[in-house]
Amino acid sequence: MTKIQIINGPNLNLLGTREPEIYGGKTFETYLEELRRDYPQIQIAYFQSNVEGLLIDKLQEVGFSYDGIILNGGAYTHTSVALQDAIRSIKTPVVEVHISNVFQREEFRHHSYLSPVCKGVICGFGMDSYRLALEALLADK
Ligand code: DQA
Repeated sequence: MTKIQIINGPNLNLLGTREPEIYGGKTFETYLEELRRDYPQIQIAYFQSNVEGLLIDKLQEVGFSYDGIILNGGAYTHTSVALQDAIRSIKTPVVEVHISNVFQREEFRHHSYLSPVCKGVICGFGMDSYRLALEALLADK
């Protein structure tokens, strides 16, 4: 069975209540249920943490056995050399995802430390960004 890991970084545990005008009103748990229902043939694991080191631990844990990783690094996208190094160090392809179109937002969100080492980037399609990332990983298998 194809195994995909979704990893959400800081503050994404608050989806549904956090700035709904930007991120929408749905919790990630609700979205995940829908995604798993739509892709019963895929094993979709989910991990969220507000702690940078725990995101790195998860990347290292799944990064040699899973078929793909969908990573929304949240604000660490724009700050973390350590996450870039972790992605460089593993074998599993990583797709970077953002719910919002970061290029329509503040300048500091325009730079990503992760993009250069990810397979690709999907941003700006709301929660559907995760499904599009999944499709991209499946198409590439
Ligand atoms: C985000 C965009 C980031 O700039 C921000 O810090 C987030 C969420 C997104 O999904 O749109 O936490 O990654």
